[in-house]
Amino acid sequence: MIATIVSASRKAKALLILLAGLAANLEGGPAWAAQPGSPWGANYFPNVELTTQEGNKVRFYDDLIKGKVFAINFIYTRCTDSCPMETAALRKLQQALGDRMGRDVFFYTISIDAERDKPATLKEYAAKFKVGPGWTFLAGTKEDVSLIRQRLGMYRDDGKAEQKLSEHNINILMGSEAGGQWIKRSPFEETAALARILSNRLAPAGKVAAYAAASMALRPMALSDGEDVFRSKCEACHSLGHEHGIGPGLAGVMRNRDRTWLKRWIQEPDKLIRAKDPIATALYKQYKEIPMPNMRLSDNEVAAVMAYMENTAPPEIQAAR
Ligand code: HEC
Repeated sequence: MIATIVSASRKAKALLILLAGLAANLEGGPAWAAQPGSPWGANYFPNVELTTQEGNKVRFYDDLIKGKVFAINFIYTRCTDSCPMETAALRKLQQALGDRMGRDVFFYTISIDAERDKPATLKEYAAKFKVGPGWTFLAGTKEDVSLIRQRLGMYRDDGKAEQKLSEHNINILMGSEAGGQWIKRSPFEETAALARILSNRLAPAGKVAAYAAASMALRPMALSDGEDVFRSKCEACHSLGHEHGIGPGLAGVMRNRDRTWLKRWIQEPDKLIRAKDPIATALYKQYKEIPMPNMRLSDNEVAAVMAYMENTAPPEIQAAR
């Protein structure tokens, strides 16, 4: 009897601590508090061996996540839809984090295609996307990578879906191992929001203030449909100006290309490339065979984003106004 009362009060206490933690999280403030005895430590994460794109052997727990703040995602290099999108989103996030990358924040992109993605393949892929310091691409055995995904809650366990690489979980998992905090977000989310999580919410206590000062302003929420599509689905790879990112700068494209072609391209770039459409093939070659992803946009979304591209002046002209 006494034992049950004690354990009930322990449970209540644990619940209170949990609720306090949740409240801190909801306020959006720094929720850093290394939880003593957190179950998600060395005993929970597999310390399996992975190989970096440079061919170095590393251990998942000891070398990659222990005591660090990081973002992890899973891709395979032959993937033509979600993965280029994920990589482009992380690249933008990397740019936003600037010199904190590789010092306070680390990115890990782990391949789920053990058969095809060797370190050299990953190195070539990283170079294509011009990834910078602090971001490591990793290969491992299928079993080891699956185990990591399971432990991170990034594995779809309905069995069937896992047979298909394209059905993998495309989220970005951000974490602080020492703080025992884990936050999963979609790559379509605003870069500034993701940057804040990594540099403020997950940052160790002493560093939060310094980061807060440098944190980026979030955009106002009221966007037109077209702007919303552009910012969440296109901006990671394209500017509306002449500057080239992962894909070409889109200044003048609404004038220079046929509308029907543009509509098809935005909706099904993969099909146009497969059909050997001459413009699509030339662009694909020019852009190092980085495939523009098929984002499965609806007719309305395509129309909205085309209207937005048509009616928005290139950034260099906006700046001069
Ligand atoms: C992951 C990167 C990526 C994303 C996201 C992306 N694109 Fe692209 N886009 C490319 C690449 C790369 C090319 C060049 C062709 C190729 O390699 O497939 C391209 C080409 C284009 C072109 C042709 C440019 C020309 O000169 O004719 C248009 C138009 C375009 N994209 C519009 C969009 C729109 C609109 C979106 C969002 C709905 C979008 N793209 C999202 C990478 C991307």
